[in-house]
Amino acid sequence: VQYHEGADAADKGAFRHFMLKEIHEQPTVVQRTLEGRLGRDHVLVQAFGPQAAELFAKVRNVQIVACGTSYHAGMVARYWLEGLAGIPCQVEVASEFRYRRVAVQPDTLFVSISQSGETADTLAALRNAKADGGYLASLAICNVGISSLVRESDLTLLTHAGPEIGVASTKAFTTQLVGLMLLTLALGQVKGTLEDGVAAELVEELRRLPARLDEALAMDKIVEKVSELFAEKHHTLFLGRGAQYPVAMEGALKLKEISYIHAEAYPAGELKHGPLALVDADMPVVTIAPNNELLDKLKSNLQVVRARGGELLVFADEQAGMSNGEGTHVVNMPHIHDALAPILYTLPLQLLSYHVAVLRGTDVDQPRNLAKSVTVE
Ligand code: AGP
Repeated sequence: VQYHEGADAADKGAFRHFMLKEIHEQPTVVQRTLEGRLGRDHVLVQAFGPQAAELFAKVRNVQIVACGTSYHAGMVARYWLEGLAGIPCQVEVASEFRYRRVAVQPDTLFVSISQSGETADTLAALRNAKADGGYLASLAICNVGISSLVRESDLTLLTHAGPEIGVASTKAFTTQLVGLMLLTLALGQVKGTLEDGVAAELVEELRRLPARLDEALAMDKIVEKVSELFAEKHHTLFLGRGAQYPVAMEGALKLKEISYIHAEAYPAGELKHGPLALVDADMPVVTIAPNNELLDKLKSNLQVVRARGGELLVFADEQAGMSNGEGTHVVNMPHIHDALAPILYTLPLQLLSYHVAVLRGTDVDQPRNLAKSVTVE
């Protein structure tokens, strides 16, 4: 089912739900979010504003504040900012940060992430941060150019996801991640903290990203089939390591909010510190296994789950050499540069929650008790 160019946001086109349409729009809107921001082998720093280069040179810390799915995007960015650009980064949910007395590190860039730009807690956190002073500058990564968050921030990087109608955030998340990777590379370029060749390498990978996302979407039927494992379940664990742990958090949130199944995300290494007691045949475990140095550790975590009768669904890099087995369902993902794996692996988790919700007959686009933008506290 292809995204119909020109179909306006208020029209589901050929899609059964807005959420499914918006999942399938991701290759297009990721491409749009990249447009005009990539040089031949570097990120165009001016994409963050005329004064960005001068400001970024002074940045020594990054404080990210957001809610829900946008918070998960910030959690992924922390691995990139620290791992690629060598910049210390803290990430907090806005509803906690806004009430906490914060010890502000010197030369800190305050980054808020929000699809709507009107989330009350995130706005309050920004206003408190500006009132308390001590921050170098504020940057909003936002999908609505005329929102309060954009108006009140010093710098802005707009995502170009287009209007997101489904309450469950999908294309906003992946375009936020693209924006955060652009921020990581821009900061690293200005500060000279990227390893040689990393900017060129990742700019090339970003150019290929829409095509990788199309390949992930082409696996929809496989994901729809495995979603049957969850339709009658009441609890699920999502496991991830490294930058895929926040992706596991996002997958758990998606399943919770549209299928109403209790889903919890854990760092895979935490399993033996308690959650393993929960694992049995009635608690499927979803895990993300990209092909990196953490893979062997993850494989041993998964053996532990299987030994206790836990049913496993593994999204694995096709080069990881993982295979189906008794109680183990492997969905092989197209190979991608490890740094961009969090963006790619989000798509099958979005599709999984969508198909489980359809099987359970919930209101996919307007799940119970939830609003698209939480503008009240
Ligand atoms: C995610 O699917 C939810 N819709 C919700 O958690 C959302 O991400 C959160 O309310 C933050 O909204 P914002 O990005 O508009 O600030």
